[in-house]
Amino acid sequence: MKVLIVGSGGREHAIAASAAKSSKVEKMYCAPGNAGIEEFAECVPIGAMEFEKLVAFVKEKSIDLCIVGMDDPLVGGLVDEMEAAGIRTFGPRKNAAILEGSKAFSKDLMKKYHIPTAAYENFTDPDAAIAYLETAKFPIVLKADGLALGKGVLICQNFEEAKEGVRTIMLDKKFGTAGNEMVIEEFMTGREVSVLSFVDGKTIKTMTSAQDHKRAGDGDTGLNTGGMGTFSPSPFYTKEVEEFCSEHIYQATVDAMAAEGREFKGVIFFGLMLTEEGPKVLEYNARFGDPEAQVVLPRMKNDLIEVVEACIDGTLDQVDLQFEDNAAVCVVLASEGYPVSYEKGFPIQGLEEFNKHEGYYCFHAGTKLQDGQIVTNGGRVLGVTAKGKDLKEARANAYAATEWVQFENKYMRHDIGKAIDEV
Ligand code: AMP
Ligand code: GLY
Repeated sequence: MKVLIVGSGGREHAIAASAAKSSKVEKMYCAPGNAGIEEFAECVPIGAMEFEKLVAFVKEKSIDLCIVGMDDPLVGGLVDEMEAAGIRTFGPRKNAAILEGSKAFSKDLMKKYHIPTAAYENFTDPDAAIAYLETAKFPIVLKADGLALGKGVLICQNFEEAKEGVRTIMLDKKFGTAGNEMVIEEFMTGREVSVLSFVDGKTIKTMTSAQDHKRAGDGDTGLNTGGMGTFSPSPFYTKEVEEFCSEHIYQATVDAMAAEGREFKGVIFFGLMLTEEGPKVLEYNARFGDPEAQVVLPRMKNDLIEVVEACIDGTLDQVDLQFEDNAAVCVVLASEGYPVSYEKGFPIQGLEEFNKHEGYYCFHAGTKLQDGQIVTNGGRVLGVTAKGKDLKEARANAYAATEWVQFENKYMRHDIGKAIDEV
């Protein structure tokens, strides 16, 4: 079959690499893609939000299956547009992608269906938000309601900071219309775990767990980023935690969405906090995580296309989802200065090394082909991923592989997976 993947990051590269292993795929396209995805798919210069052009393209090429990787087109309703044109598409429709698109919606859903999460209030009026903060406990967490590239969350230590935060989100509109509404929620402490799952509207099958490192600097310092590295599985995601989440969170979320008339098909990403009171939901995403996908998909034994089709057809209950009994670590190579400002256009050397070693991957995030040379083209440039028999071996392998790649202003964290030493 012919497949189109929509997106351009490391996640879409990992999806393309996984889909390429399927015997069902005869030709793959990616819109807009990047220099690394070219290895598996023909990249076409159509933006992920150019819905009309995307639909025209799939018709012209007689594409059989479309996989939407990114959040923006999902929340904007690309799946609905594709389906209206008769194209089988993997991902939630607009009315279900709201699970990620509106934090106020997702908090209300969890409250209504008794899914464990931090206590909260939603606000559309900045004065009411400030009045609420006057008697609140600190630290406290402010969240812009809509999509904000993972950056719309402010953790405030005192009333003054929080008041400034309300101004930033709701009045200065630092995150645009995402700040028309705001969630104020209780600050939680504990370990974070990312659990991705396949969902077919009724059935949910969780994938192996992972942990992200969101801050830019070593020791979790500096600004929040899209993610600087991941490891999988998380040793803190024990059998007990998994059982609790299966009973109180996973199926409950799928059933809640169905009960609301918002049948969810695609990937639900559960951002969990393992608190002293038990696991609670930090956030939902309506897609694979990035860079979680880079450590989860290479460990998946199933044919990705078969699983994706089962989600679309509502037959996921017949799929036996299986992961390798090993580990993977991804270290993001970024441009110095990310996530604030950075230079682009530097040639990248050493990429060919990855083809010579089994179990090593270099997923491209911000790269492009310029005059026959792959150059840096973003804040997050590459995701260097390696497998190992356990987390320690995978981490040593991944860090060794970061040395294979050279480009000017290369920046990375040196403590990805440090938490595994505490186990
Ligand atoms: P989110 O986009 O909601 O996942 O938030 C981004 C990051 O902010 C999370 O990965 C957490 O590290 C942090 N965060 C979000 N909500 C809370 C909370 N209620 N308590 C503590 N930290 C939080
Ligand atoms: N790594 C976090 C995310 O994909 O949102």
